[in-house]
Amino acid sequence: MQENNRTASLVKTMKEQITADLAEAKTPEQVEQIRIKYLGKKGLVTNFAKNTDFAKLPPDEKKNFGQQLNDLKNFAAEKIQESADNAAKLDSAQNKHRRQIDLTVPLTAAFQRSGSAHPIAHVQSELETIFEGMGFCVLDSPECETEYGNFESVNIPADHPARDMQDTFWLQNEMVLRTHTSANQVRALKRFGAPFRGIFPGRCFRYESIDPSHENTFFQCEGLMVDKGISVANLIGVMKTLLGEIFKRDVLVRLRPGFFPFVEPGFELDLNCLFCGGKGCPACGDGWMELIPCGLVHPNVLRNADIDPNEYSGFAFGVGLTRLAMMKFGIRDIRYFNSGDVRVLEQFQPLV
Ligand code: DAH
Repeated sequence: MQENNRTASLVKTMKEQITADLAEAKTPEQVEQIRIKYLGKKGLVTNFAKNTDFAKLPPDEKKNFGQQLNDLKNFAAEKIQESADNAAKLDSAQNKHRRQIDLTVPLTAAFQRSGSAHPIAHVQSELETIFEGMGFCVLDSPECETEYGNFESVNIPADHPARDMQDTFWLQNEMVLRTHTSANQVRALKRFGAPFRGIFPGRCFRYESIDPSHENTFFQCEGLMVDKGISVANLIGVMKTLLGEIFKRDVLVRLRPGFFPFVEPGFELDLNCLFCGGKGCPACGDGWMELIPCGLVHPNVLRNADIDPNEYSGFAFGVGLTRLAMMKFGIRDIRYFNSGDVRVLEQFQPLV
């Protein structure tokens, strides 16, 4: 009698286990795994008798055991078949649904939105194409710099007041988030030597309070050309080509003296206002827009790159990509660029 009770409880547990397993199974494949688990050759139900020492039972109890085992086998077979049928039905319904997708139905407006490049990516790629056309290479560069790379290599020693103009973020390992792409001048010259023509576009950082025209994260594109006999005339020629291509018209530029430790002489290159033609308007004030700081590479920078300033000279410039994108797309608030708001991409299209 005791044996019968034990068998009954094992059968009951097994049934519960089967029911629980089937409740989890969703696909025909999963149900099949369960069938194998219980009714396969090595299955738990198939081998129930062996596993419960059936052979050792007294003859009168064997009969009762046999009935219970049959009952368990029927239960397992029925339940598993039921689940297999349901899973198959569900599967074919899903397949049918899949087959029902009609690729010829016209798109609704919601699906017709096409993506567009971020204004800065747009301006950057335009610049890269223009410079590549003039034989410049385009170099990628790190956003973290050593103090030497960001400052000293481009002639800004520790006690130089120019450091105040570029207050920056210091990392715990004493590196800095670069404040300008000029930090690549010496790296590139050391790697490639002279003569050299290249641009380095990239993200820069400064410790700024943010307002419509200031951001702590912005984009620049540095340019550098070093060769024998390079003069201000070459600088102006390249800048005019660049701006003419970007704004799709002949442009008038002027140079004003400007101070930057890594160039001598240094200039601010202004663009004759594209909106008012130089008469003066709210966008420019006096008819000129300050656009590209530039100059002839300082001899110390060449020396830092092991290049003899008596043999070679060069020019360098730093285009504010963010500023250029603002002009080209008519974006009046710099904060839009890093906002991550997808409407920026939908809303702004190039003005020129
Ligand atoms: N690195 C300067 C800045 O971020 C910009 C600059 C000025 C770059 C003059 C130049 C240059 O190459 O010649 O403020």
